[in-house]
Amino acid sequence: MKENWSTFRELLVPAAGPRGLERALREAIRAGHLPAGLRLPSTRDLAGQLGVARGTVTAAYDQLAAEGYLEARRGSGTRVALAAVTPAAAEPPAAGPVRWDHDLRTGMPALGAFPRSAWISACRTALNGLSDHDLGYPEAAGLLSLRQELSGYLARVRAMVVRPEDVVVTHGSAEALVLLCRSLRAAGHTEIAVENPSYPGQLELIIEQGLRPVPVPVDDEGLRVAGLLGTSCRAVVVTSAHQYPLGVALSPRRRRELVLWATTVDGLVIEDDYDAEHRYDRPALAALQALAPGRVAYLGTTSKTLAPGLRLGWLVLAGQHRATVVESKRLHDRGNSVLEQAGFAELLRSGGYDRHLRSTRRLYRQRRDALLSELAARVPAWQPIGIAAGLHVVLRLPAGTDDRELAGRLTGSGILLAPLSAYAMTAAPFPGLVIGYGNVSAGRLRSAAAAIAEALSA
Ligand SMILES: Cc1ncc(COP(=O)(O)O)c(C=O)c1O
Repeated sequence: MKENWSTFRELLVPAAGPRGLERALREAIRAGHLPAGLRLPSTRDLAGQLGVARGTVTAAYDQLAAEGYLEARRGSGTRVALAAVTPAAAEPPAAGPVRWDHDLRTGMPALGAFPRSAWISACRTALNGLSDHDLGYPEAAGLLSLRQELSGYLARVRAMVVRPEDVVVTHGSAEALVLLCRSLRAAGHTEIAVENPSYPGQLELIIEQGLRPVPVPVDDEGLRVAGLLGTSCRAVVVTSAHQYPLGVALSPRRRRELVLWATTVDGLVIEDDYDAEHRYDRPALAALQALAPGRVAYLGTTSKTLAPGLRLGWLVLAGQHRATVVESKRLHDRGNSVLEQAGFAELLRSGGYDRHLRSTRRLYRQRRDALLSELAARVPAWQPIGIAAGLHVVLRLPAGTDDRELAGRLTGSGILLAPLSAYAMTAAPFPGLVIGYGNVSAGRLRSAAAAIAEALSA
C-alpha cells in the first residue's frame, strides 16, 4: 500500500538544516505522530520531497537509529523502532499542523457534548453560594460540599461504601495515583503490579514515582489473580469494571480472589474506575471497593464523563494511606480550585450530571453501533471485543498479524489508532487494533471503518 507522504511532509516542513530534520523526526516519533512499525520514505525520496540534500536525510536517519528511534532492516527500509513507543506515544500528540482524516485514538469523550450551559449555570449558582471566607485556601482533601455530593453519587451509582471523610478531590486520577505511589513508597513499597496490557500513561507515572511496575496477565475474566501470587508486590492497579484496553469485566470469582489476596499480603488494590459510567447492555457492575473498603483505593475521574481538560477526579480511601495522601496533597498544591469543586458539587446536586450522562450514554451507544455495524459488514471475520462498555473497542486480529506494522500502515494513510501491542509491557495476548469512538461522529466512524477495511485489503 502507499503511505500518505503528504502527511509525512507536513510533519517535517518546519525542519530546517540537518539538525532540524533530526529534531522534527524525533519529536514526531515521541509525540506518537509516527507510530512503531511505520516505514519511512527512502532517503532519496524524502530528500526529494523536502528539497534537501540526501546526506542530510541519511545523517538524520543514522542519528535516530543510533538513539533507538529508528530501525533499518535490510530489504524493508527504515522503520520507526518498536522500542521508540514509550508510554507517552499513546498520549494525544500536542496540537500541531497535522490533520488526520480519522483520529481514533482512545481517551477522549465527546468534547462537543460538554454541557456548557449546565456547567456555567452550576458555577454561577455555586459562586453565589460561596462566602468570602470560602474563597480562602480550601481543605486539602476537598470541599466538604463536593465530598458529600460525591459520596451520595458513588453510593447510588457505583454501590460503594463511602463517607465524605473518605473522599479526596484530586486533579484527575493521574494525581490520585501519584499521591498513592508516594504513600506506598513511604510505607516501604518498591514495586506495584499492573495489568498487562494496561494504560501506558499509568506505567509512566508509576516509574516516575520511583516504583517498579510488575506486569500481570489479563484473560477473559480480567486480571489473573493467580499471577499476582507469584510476585512480591503488595499493591496492584486494576481496571475492574472495564479492563483497559481489553474491555473485559473482572469476574465475581476474581474479585473475591483479589480481595483475599490483598488481605493476606496486607496490601492495597487500586481500583481505576475510569469509564464505568458508560455501560450499554445493563447497569454498570458495582465497584470492587464495596467488597473491602479498607483494602481498596478507588479512583474516579471526570475525564471520560465531562472533559479531560477539567482535571477533576477523586480518590476514595478509608485505609492506612489516607493521612499520608491528604498531607501530601496539602504540601503539593494546597487543594483543588474551590470554584471548580463548588461548580461540580452543584452539577451533581442539581441532577445536571445525571442528565448529561444519560444523554452521552445514548450518543456513545449510537457511535459504537455505527462503528460495529460498518466493521461487521466490511471485515466480518475480525472480532471486536470489549464492546459492552466504554469509549473504545479492540478489533482482534488473526494470530500472527503484526499489529504495529498494520497500525503504522493505517496511520500512514490518515487513520490514527494504536496497536494492542503498544499497551503491553511484555507480549500482548493477541494482535489487535484499539479503536476509540467517543469523540468521533457516527458518520466519521462509518467512513473510518470503511477506510480501515480498504487499507487492509490493499
Ligand atoms: C485507564 C485510564 N485511567 C485513567 C484515565 C484518566 O486519567 P485522568 O483522570 O488523569 O485524566 C485514563 C485516560 O485515558 C485511562 O485510560
